[in-house]
Amino acid sequence: MFKLKNLSIKQKLILISFSTTFVVLLIGIIGNIIQGAVLFRKSAVRNLTIHSRIIGYNSAAALAFNDRESAGQILSALKANQNIVNAVIYTKEGEVFATFNRDGKEAFSTPKPQWRGYRFAINHLEALEDIVLDGEPIGAIYVRAELNELYNMMTWFAIVVGIVAAGAFFLAFVILTKLQKTITTPIRNLTEATRIIARGDYSHKVNIQSNDEIKELADSFNKMTEDIRRYQAEKEKILKDMHDGIGGITTNIKLLSELAQKGSSIKDMKNALKTISGLSQEGLTEIRGFIQSLDIKDTTWQDMAAELRSFGSNMIESHGLMFNMKGLIGDAGDQPNSLLYLNLFRTYKEALTNIIKHSKAKSVDVLFSVNKEKIILSVKDDGVGLKEKEKSAGRGLTNMIMRARELGGQLTILSDKGTNITLEIFLPVKS
Ligand SMILES: Nc1ncnc2c1ncn2[C@@H]1O[C@H](COP(=O)(O)OP(=O)(O)O)[C@@H](O)[C@H]1O
Ligand SMILES: [Mg+2]
Repeated sequence: MFKLKNLSIKQKLILISFSTTFVVLLIGIIGNIIQGAVLFRKSAVRNLTIHSRIIGYNSAAALAFNDRESAGQILSALKANQNIVNAVIYTKEGEVFATFNRDGKEAFSTPKPQWRGYRFAINHLEALEDIVLDGEPIGAIYVRAELNELYNMMTWFAIVVGIVAAGAFFLAFVILTKLQKTITTPIRNLTEATRIIARGDYSHKVNIQSNDEIKELADSFNKMTEDIRRYQAEKEKILKDMHDGIGGITTNIKLLSELAQKGSSIKDMKNALKTISGLSQEGLTEIRGFIQSLDIKDTTWQDMAAELRSFGSNMIESHGLMFNMKGLIGDAGDQPNSLLYLNLFRTYKEALTNIIKHSKAKSVDVLFSVNKEKIILSVKDDGVGLKEKEKSAGRGLTNMIMRARELGGQLTILSDKGTNITLEIFLPVKS
């Protein structure tokens, strides 16, 4: 069954415009024809009364002198007007004085002159008026005209109006098919783009040339897909990271436990177990970090600072060192994203572990500063310091440098007089 809502927007637009145009034109045509009919009738009446008056005026003398022959001659002048078929001159008493019958027309019975004015019948118009002499009615004149010509004129008029209306309708059609494209084309582009994006291509952009609500819709849409694309990229990176990190740890545990099974001395086995235990601990921390980083939707920079503080003081103070942290959280705009969060924490953890393992320091100073331009995480100790070649000796520091680079930042390792270390990470918020 036909349902309006099932039509495409293009079809709806065409239907709406056409029905509106049609109604407007129809009203126009009907109005025109009515007006035309009224005008034609008026002119027909005027025409007939003019004739009847002229004849009446001319025949007054003939009537006064009872000259029937002259009256007949005057009436026969009506031959010149093709529409007039009959005419009668009556005496004052209402008797027929003279008549006119157009040749070839059917026999006509003279009407009784008991009314005045004009009357319309289906196919003729008749007028009956007094013949006046010196202000006194001395008789009456009756004239009857056929309406064929009137009907012909009206038919022609209707045909012309109809042709003009059809032309207007056609013109409206041409204009409409051009104009509807300015609405339907952007909508079609948008629909096509959503199809492509729904298939999973989040890099696709909707391109709208117009400057209206559809453009606004397309802009929001583009922003949405951009967000999804970024989120996906972030997710993929984290997954890859997880595979490399936890995957690596698990592989190590597997190899070590296989070696330990083959080993003969208890000492070797104990050593292997100790390493395995360390690796498992590392794996657990990694997993916790992942879970945390995936669940940071509502985490603010303030929350992050608080977490860095509690994590750092727990770890450092349990080894008998002093811990001090300063947080400078300005207006950073965005919230921390998962990837940034995860890598910042890893770097932090590794720096603190190194201090405990290698530095022989007494106190640790941490600075966490966030503003629109950068994030700074500085971890400083007052220990033995590290030499240039040690920077690339292990995986810990190299990993830190790599991660910082991946996040679009940099890692600076300063070691003054071999007694303290400053690790700073400069990260733009929008990595
Ligand atoms: N805070 C520190 N104080 C002194 N030496 C350090 C410090 N951090 C790192 N180092 C030195 O740099 C080396 C490389 O560190 P890293 O890359 O983390 O490897 P790992 O910790 O596995 O030895 C360490 O072996 C250590 O000698
Ligand atoms: Mg290390």
